[in-house]
Amino acid sequence: MSAFGGALNGQVGHEFGASQQYVAIAVYYDSENLPQLAAHFYRQAVEERNHAMMMVRYLLDADEDVNIPGIDAPRTRFDDVVAPVALALEQEKRVTEQIVELVKLAREDGELVGEQFLHWFLQEQREEVASMTELLAVVERGKDNLLSVEESLSRASGAENPLEAGAPPAAGGAL
Ligand SMILES: [Fe+2]
Ligand SMILES: [Fe+2]
Repeated sequence: MSAFGGALNGQVGHEFGASQQYVAIAVYYDSENLPQLAAHFYRQAVEERNHAMMMVRYLLDADEDVNIPGIDAPRTRFDDVVAPVALALEQEKRVTEQIVELVKLAREDGELVGEQFLHWFLQEQREEVASMTELLAVVERGKDNLLSVEESLSRASGAENPLEAGAPPAAGGAL
């Protein structure tokens, strides 16, 4: 396996880890009877799973070895309704750094096809950090009136991510 292939394989684990963390956050909100917040994170969990499978597809197409890694348990307990979104924003910022490091490695190693594959993920991270920053502001502002947060989310949920149209193919198909 090339150094880039190995590092990208590591990112598959980070994306699955992000997916599990979002499932845990969705379940927390579901148990707190906040269905719109739950739905938002159930959707994010599927998106992260798709990111992992896009990377798997790339590795398969590049004839690299693919190892589906085990992942650490996500955090499941939160002090209040703001904490999960703060954790999610931290996670998105961390993933952005990870993708940037992968792009640097691809560039250093002359893996230009791999670098081009990652450009979509750079755009996606910009979008996800921005939307999670916005959600954190909404939840912080509305933490004493969560019904208003739920209402604003139900109004916003129809908005499609325009990046989806140009997304790389996922192994087995995106969900
Ligand atoms: Fe992701
Ligand atoms: Fe993400």
